[in-house]
Amino acid sequence: MERDSSGFDPHTPNVARLYDYFLGGKDHFPADREAAERILRVAPEIRAAARANRAFLGRAVRRLAEAGVTQFLDLGTGLPAWNNVHEVAAKVTPHARVVYVDRDPVVLVHARAMPPGPGTTTVVEGDLRKPEAILRDPDVMRALDFGRPVAVLLVAVMHYVTESERPDEIVAALREALAPGSYLVMSHGTSDARAAFVRQSTHIYQRASLPLTLRGRDRIMELFEGFELVDPGLVWLPEWRPEQADLIDFPGGPESSLALCGVGRLGAGRRRPT
Ligand SMILES: C[S@@+](CC[C@H](N)C(=O)[O-])C[C@H]1O[C@@H](n2cnc3c(N)ncnc32)[C@H](O)[C@@H]1O
Repeated sequence: MERDSSGFDPHTPNVARLYDYFLGGKDHFPADREAAERILRVAPEIRAAARANRAFLGRAVRRLAEAGVTQFLDLGTGLPAWNNVHEVAAKVTPHARVVYVDRDPVVLVHARAMPPGPGTTTVVEGDLRKPEAILRDPDVMRALDFGRPVAVLLVAVMHYVTESERPDEIVAALREALAPGSYLVMSHGTSDARAAFVRQSTHIYQRASLPLTLRGRDRIMELFEGFELVDPGLVWLPEWRPEQADLIDFPGGPESSLALCGVGRLGAGRRRPT
């Protein structure tokens, strides 16, 4: 089967389906499984890392909902799994408004088929490398009030943005649209992880025509420019406000989670342009 007009191509490994495979989901094809197994040979810890990422996503959304955030803009949503943002938020704030954005047509089909919660869930096709287009999208503008705090989620997605695609400008464009009291939630695969993992996983992703830009701690920190990191700062996935219910065993230490994560808050000092 060739790539169809929607962009669906089962013969080329796809980041959403690879991640689904690592999480133990069912939405992947032989090409995805073959690439995933090659990555697992060099980084068997990636299954636990994917789970730790999803657990971080859930903890961050719940903590922000508990802090009074009712609006969430999830960029790079991925295939539905456990800890879907609207489900986690709804447990704390039933009328949460959640916008899911992804560029992958298959992700969009699955996201639209998710059972709605009590709040408002909107699914939008968009490419986070064009943040202005997302912010101007009529469905996004209808769903979210940017005059009030919004949590922007960039969870396990910025490492698919290369340096030449100017990740700082992407985050800055999002930041400029946000009201004080808004948040940035980010996790990011890091080059501070085990060297063999970094070298070989980057190579495997590249061979599959998937850009993977693992960044060091300082560079990831720069992507939080303009936000104040809340406690405990930029840490390995299992270290962000760990909870007994989602503890994952990393015999090699927290750095085996392969990614750093943090939550930044936009202070009142930064005014939203009128
Ligand atoms: C590894 S999954 C992460 C899913 C979810 N955020 C999580 O952490 O559980 C990455 C997702 O980002 C999406 N993605 C990658 N680059 C993107 C881009 N430029 N714009 C929008 N979505 C993108 C992929 O299609 C995929 O669904």
